[in-house]
Amino acid sequence: MSAPVRLQDVAPDRARFRDDVWHGLSLPRKTLPCKYFYDARGSALFEAICELPEYYPTRTELSIMERHAGDMAARLGARCLLVEYGSGSSRKTRLLLDRLEAPAGYVPIDISRTALAASARALTDAYPALEVLPVCADYTEPFDLPHPQRTPLRRAVYFPGSTIGNFTPPEVASFLARMARVAGRRGALLVGVDLKKERAVLEAAYDDAAGVTAAFNRNLLVRINRELGGEFDLARFAHRARWDEQAGRVEMHLVADRAHSVRVAGRAFSFARGETIHTENSYKFDLAQFAALAAGAGLAVREVWTDDARRFSVQLLSVEA
Ligand code: TRP
Repeated sequence: MSAPVRLQDVAPDRARFRDDVWHGLSLPRKTLPCKYFYDARGSALFEAICELPEYYPTRTELSIMERHAGDMAARLGARCLLVEYGSGSSRKTRLLLDRLEAPAGYVPIDISRTALAASARALTDAYPALEVLPVCADYTEPFDLPHPQRTPLRRAVYFPGSTIGNFTPPEVASFLARMARVAGRRGALLVGVDLKKERAVLEAAYDDAAGVTAAFNRNLLVRINRELGGEFDLARFAHRARWDEQAGRVEMHLVADRAHSVRVAGRAFSFARGETIHTENSYKFDLAQFAALAAGAGLAVREVWTDDARRFSVQLLSVEA
């Protein structure tokens, strides 16, 4: 048996969760922060989403990594400290770790303690020479970056998936700038960026036939019921995903099928028939638009790797000298 991995833990607590839920449900257009999707069950459901035939991003990004991880690792150079935001199962990261030259360490950051602990343990077993320094945190909030024993030559922030698309464009620019500060001098960002495509492909990716995405979306209410003593009737809320071409985003909602009210931790929230809780946006980009957002954050796009159908991209950004 391997030694337990020590974990730095600054994840949001229950009081914060309750306040965020109360706040979101009090707004004229109800919303809930998407970070709360990822409890243990939510993380497991998201892993299941990644295996769905309709959910092209994971498959496509993996194929890009399989083809180009050697090139990416060469660009990051020897003795790099790899910091990953939203590491989940770290499946894509392994392709990079297999090719990095003597990495100084790996810092997986995830809001799900269960997913993080499991993947940190598995990585420690699979890469005995690698120093793994997990951080359980909401990475949109400040946190302390752990120091590896070996001094890195460079820090690289890895942000795969299409998570960058879960921010609005102005948020993207400020979040890129924050990651650049974490990467520091001579640092690099390696970011997954999902690209615009036909409506049918996009809507199916966020509303699969097997209903896994619907279960993932509803799990937010399951979690509120369990952790905050919420009284959501799951059968009253339908999952909806629509591509808004104008805004360039897929919007995810939970739609109330009739007027009713729901108590959460001692407060009542009323829903009209058809009223929704907006749970997530997933913006899709074109290359020029993303380069402009990066430039706004003082970053230059150094390389763009895509698949043949140009469905998805992995981009190397660096701080402009
Ligand atoms: N980051 C993922 C994405 O934008 C998150 C996601 C996938 C998601 N499917 C979802 C969020 C369904 C809410 C509902 O692709």
